[in-house]
Amino acid sequence: MAQTKQKTSGKTLVAYATKGGVTEESANIIVSVLRDKHKLDVDIINLTKNPKPDISQYRNVVIGSGVRMGRWYKQALKLMESDFYNKRVALFLSSCEAGEPDKHEQSITKYIKKVLEKYPHLKPVAAEAFGGRMKMFGKTITDNYDAEKVKRWAEEVGKTLTD
Ligand SMILES: Cc1cc2nc3c(=O)[nH]c(=O)nc-3n(C[C@H](O)[C@H](O)[C@H](O)COP(=O)(O)O)c2cc1C
Repeated sequence: MAQTKQKTSGKTLVAYATKGGVTEESANIIVSVLRDKHKLDVDIINLTKNPKPDISQYRNVVIGSGVRMGRWYKQALKLMESDFYNKRVALFLSSCEAGEPDKHEQSITKYIKKVLEKYPHLKPVAAEAFGGRMKMFGKTITDNYDAEKVKRWAEEVGKTLTD
C-alpha cells in the first residue's frame, strides 16, 4: 500500500482558545489543510482544556484565539509569552469586527499589531483576523465567519511552514 511521506520540517502544533466555538472550527480547518495538503505532522490542543502545552517538540506553532471585549482570550496570551526561539509562529483570531469588510484593516491594527507590541520576542510568519459569530439569548445576532477564507489562509501559511 502506498504511504504518504511526511515532510521532515518538524512537528506543528495548532493551539487555540475558544468560548463560542468559532476558533475551534478554524483550528480544525487549519489542521486538515496542513495535514492533507502540506503533509505536515500536526497536533491540535484546546488551550482551555490544556493551558500549558509543552511546545519544545514543535518547529511550528499556530496560535488561535477569539476576541471578546477587545481582548484575546487569556490562555492564548499566556502561550504567546513562551520562548519561540527557532520556531515559526502563525497567529489567527476570530472577531466579529474583523469579519466586517470595512473594519477588517482596523481590527488587524487593534487586535494584532497593537497586541504584538507587547510581545516583542514574537515575530510571526503570518497573522490574520477572521470573522466570528455572536449569539444572544441562544439566537445568532451576528455571523460573519467565512470558513473558505480560513482554508485559503491555511493553504498559504502551510507553504511557509514547510519551507
Ligand atoms: C461578550 C462578547 C464580547 C465580544 N466582544 C468583541 C469585541 O470586542 N470585538 C470583536 O471583534 N468581537 C467581539 N465579540 C465577537 C467574538 O469575537 C465572536 O463571538 C467570536 O466568534 C469569538 O470567538 P470564539 O467563538 O472562538 O469564542 C464578542 C462576543 C461576545 C459574546
